[in-house]
Amino acid sequence: MKKKVLSAILSVAMVASLLVGCGSSSAPAASEAPAATEEAAPAAEATEEAAPAVEANGKKVGVAMPTQSSERWINDGSNMKKQLEALGYEVDLQYAEDDVQAQVSQIENMIASGVNCLVIASIDSSALVNVEKQAKDAGIPVIAYDRLLMDTDAVSYYATFDNKGVGTAIGKYIVEHTELDPADPKTIEFFMGSPDDNNAHMLYAGLMEQVQPYLDDGSLVCKSGQVDFESNNTLRWDQQTAMKRCEDILTGYYADDELDIIASAFDGLSYGCKSALEGAGYTADNWPLITGQDAELMATKNIIAGTQTMSIAKDTRILAEKCVTMVQAVLEGAEPEINDTETYNNNVIVVPSYLCEPVAVDKDNYKEVLVDTGYYTEDQLAAE
Ligand code: BGC
Repeated sequence: MKKKVLSAILSVAMVASLLVGCGSSSAPAASEAPAATEEAAPAAEATEEAAPAVEANGKKVGVAMPTQSSERWINDGSNMKKQLEALGYEVDLQYAEDDVQAQVSQIENMIASGVNCLVIASIDSSALVNVEKQAKDAGIPVIAYDRLLMDTDAVSYYATFDNKGVGTAIGKYIVEHTELDPADPKTIEFFMGSPDDNNAHMLYAGLMEQVQPYLDDGSLVCKSGQVDFESNNTLRWDQQTAMKRCEDILTGYYADDELDIIASAFDGLSYGCKSALEGAGYTADNWPLITGQDAELMATKNIIAGTQTMSIAKDTRILAEKCVTMVQAVLEGAEPEINDTETYNNNVIVVPSYLCEPVAVDKDNYKEVLVDTGYYTEDQLAAE
């Protein structure tokens, strides 16, 4: 059944490749660190049917992922591995558990082991400059996955979602689902992403473009005053950090008032805020509008239960598919799919990019966006 759903989304060629390469769905991780989010089951697993052996093409791809503490990266890693293996590549997939130095070492080892291409989803976008230079000197092409690699000319292509578009979609959702009236102001607090991730800055820019006019006219009020990215970012997108900050904000600024909106940049941050709100005695009667990003399984269950309002669905199968075309381009001379040659300036070069489309998801459209596409099954969403 899943095959049918997949075939609706992926190209015929890619589906054929997937079916060939989906013999295993286990996440081969370098690190055994437990997942921080409650649900870490990969979405959109491929079918388990026996696959004919794929002829190895003799080339090895190193895939460096940031962490397994968030479900999306587990899905990204396993989708990349499956799709590359289906084309005959050997894959070295490593997770660094948000430890920048560990990621540097993993990439150094990949270079030393003779990989032909590197795909990197960085922890700190600027911290890999030296190792990227090593790759370039060794003639190994580098592709940036989801997060732009900053301050380097060693990156060939960038596969991502429209990162400013994510912020725009979150901001639009807030504006469209709130009665905005300066005579009856609504309170809002911001929980943004990691300052060392370029995506977090772009999301913030897209979000503020939408909500700033309403902060200016008094329809929205941020009682903590923490509107600047400098004051509302969350290092490493960490759930516990967000929870603690939300607790402090609720105690410090909302003792006599209610918080109406939490503009959260990531589902993990939304879980932290949810815990803080429960601790402060919020109930279904006064629960705020809470945004998120990634439409993780847990977040989608929370959306159905009403404890998170929306998220941004990012189909990691499609992102992996686009990234694989880039790997083929640098290794086989094929033509990669590119749809942006202007936006992603990394301070050294403008990196040719493919931007996938982020989709806002809430209780009204989650079936269409997440179930009908095979990203989650009804069973996964119904499970305790
Ligand atoms: C990704 C988001 C993700 C966040 C936290 C960002 O770079 O674009 O999808 O929610 O990292 O992992």
